[in-house]
Amino acid sequence: MDLDPERLSTADRYKLLIGCIVPRPIAFVSTISPEGRTNLAPFSFFTGVGSNPMTLLFCPVNDANGHEKDTLRNCKPESEGGTGEFVVNLASEGYAHLVAAAAETLPYGDSEFELTGLTPATSLRVRPPRVAESPVAFECRTIQIVRTNPSKPAGGNVVIGRVVHVHAADGALNDRLHADPDRLAAVARMGGRTYCRTRDRFTLELGRPALNTPRPWEKQTGPPL
Ligand SMILES: Cc1cc2nc3c(=O)[nH]c(=O)nc-3n(C[C@H](O)[C@H](O)[C@H](O)COP(=O)(O)O)c2cc1C
Repeated sequence: MDLDPERLSTADRYKLLIGCIVPRPIAFVSTISPEGRTNLAPFSFFTGVGSNPMTLLFCPVNDANGHEKDTLRNCKPESEGGTGEFVVNLASEGYAHLVAAAAETLPYGDSEFELTGLTPATSLRVRPPRVAESPVAFECRTIQIVRTNPSKPAGGNVVIGRVVHVHAADGALNDRLHADPDRLAAVARMGGRTYCRTRDRFTLELGRPALNTPRPWEKQTGPPL
């Protein structure tokens, strides 16, 4: 099958993106409005960008009317009417259902902290609170927003943030700053309403040595296609 995106509906393009780019880690993003109202929402179009400076990105698309989602309204730079700040919390098994619940569309200014019962904890370097239950939180300042189709439904917005503080719960990192994946218990999004855990892991060498590495996955699921 060969598909020309230009001949597909926006819904079908979305289906292909979320069904094929899997699994996607989830940024559980807390923000605050200039008036001081907190907001919390999950975004799985999310990844790291670079470590010098420490940067990450997530992508809140425009809603069906072409309007900015509350998170984008809040985290865009002050010059555009936002606060220029956000916190990326992790999506963890213990509260995965609350991550999904926080995707509820509430009126601007109503807080998903109240809806979910998750605990806002004071951040160290930015105004939006972090989620106390999250094993790790990245406090960020927005450095750039790339808009791929401003004011149009489903147009993309890439929010690039500089991490200005990292909070880690006791036991989440060892003294060499390696994260404990069992403590993080990260969940990721697949297509539609499906999620996956990060419990099934294997290691590989880097580069040429990987050619001769054992293939632990073959025992469980057969050879890769
Ligand atoms: C796990 C998960 C991942 C999501 N990822 C995205 C995403 O990457 N981009 C996006 O625009 N919406 C995403 N959504 C939908 C938003 O969370 C939803 O539109 C939310 O209401 C936005 O909240 P806000 O208006 O408070 O910013 C996702 C929803 C879930 C449950």
